[in-house]
Amino acid sequence: MEVVEKIVYPDEITGFSTEEHRFEPYSWYREMRSSHPVYFDPKQKVWNVFLYRDVERVLSDYHLFSSKNDRKLSSFPVIGKEERSLTSMDPPLHSKRRGLVAKAFTPKSLKTWEPRIATVAQYWLDQIREQDTIDLVYDLAIPLPVTVIAELLGVPASDWKQFKLWSDAIISPGSRDTYAESVKERTQALKEMADYLLPIIRQKRSRPTDDIISDLTIAELEGERLSDEEIIYFGIGLLFAGNETTTRLISNAFYCFLIDQPAAYPLLRKELSLIPKAVEEVLRYRSPAQFMMRRVAQDTNVFGAEMKEGESIIAWIGSANHDEEHFVQAEQFDLNRPNNQQHLSFGKGTHFCLGAPLARMEASIGLTEFMKRYSRLILPEQWSLSENLGQRGFLAKFPVRVER
Ligand code: HEM
Repeated sequence: MEVVEKIVYPDEITGFSTEEHRFEPYSWYREMRSSHPVYFDPKQKVWNVFLYRDVERVLSDYHLFSSKNDRKLSSFPVIGKEERSLTSMDPPLHSKRRGLVAKAFTPKSLKTWEPRIATVAQYWLDQIREQDTIDLVYDLAIPLPVTVIAELLGVPASDWKQFKLWSDAIISPGSRDTYAESVKERTQALKEMADYLLPIIRQKRSRPTDDIISDLTIAELEGERLSDEEIIYFGIGLLFAGNETTTRLISNAFYCFLIDQPAAYPLLRKELSLIPKAVEEVLRYRSPAQFMMRRVAQDTNVFGAEMKEGESIIAWIGSANHDEEHFVQAEQFDLNRPNNQQHLSFGKGTHFCLGAPLARMEASIGLTEFMKRYSRLILPEQWSLSENLGQRGFLAKFPVRVER
């Protein structure tokens, strides 16, 4: 019998061995779109799709491509009981669970979050007021999302450094050599977080306040409520889902505005109302989440090749967002692109990112507050990429000299 490994290592499909490669995967995507748009990797035994229309189909057609999968991406953590995680469920169960937790993410919640996010952004910018050199990653892109999510969850924002450590451990690197060690770290971090959250949840059950955890304790749908354990793991899930990705979005935005299109920073500073649209182009051009995996739920040849039930398939979001068939001159960062909102960076269909409005708001507010304070940024001589092997590369340090 053929043995299929449970863990899928994306680096062994791409062949990337440096952070520079992981940060700039676009020429590999281009090559795959033109030569192997539907590709079976014989070593990892996994299908891969690279075209916009195929990625969109895999993400949204849960009858053919299920989120329930025994195989996991090395970089994707399993949090709590797997079958209870939103991202591992299919409808109809998924719709029910999502309906419950979505009660904490209503447009009304968003309205009340807006001023709270602005206050957090201003707080962090005040901390660096006296500095002439600012590390855009360390001084803003890291602390902003982690404190915002702590504040919105309703846990002490002053514990943010601890949150960041836990969050890093949960998404720790996933290359083959380090995988076993990183699973140990994840397990330990998950246990510590659960111990930290449980008393907070119990307290909020008896005395709810204005935050996501309180909303989850009272959320009810068709007579069902979430257990303490479910809230713990959903809370941890939010910390993971909403933290690292938004950090990447904000740091990528600076990279796009300073390096990909250097005219963008002064232009946006003059016209701050253009920032939300610019954020969409950043999401398209440098997507924080580059790929998602599904399981083929029934034999199919929708993409031409014969795919068998039970096989795994990776939808390469970062490639879909650069598909020339869908985006004109896709390889250019273009603030005026009319259809950039059609990027697939938040997924598509039933699993569409629950936190997308929050991430968009956080990035737009953070960038607006920043630009109000600084007229010009002088590019770093040296910036560095993270050494987070096994995942997509991202900025670790991006220091700039600032002019007010
Ligand atoms: C730029 C930032 C973000 C990006 C790029 C992003 C990306 C994604 C993607 C691609 C998915 C779809 C997963 C799939 O199809 O299997 C997703 C789902 C999800 N995201 Fe986000 N996300 C971001 C921020 C956030 C934030 C801030 C939160 C909440 C605080 C959040 C919470 C979630 C949740 C709960 C799901 C699962 C939805 C479901 O399965 O029904 N995300 N995200």
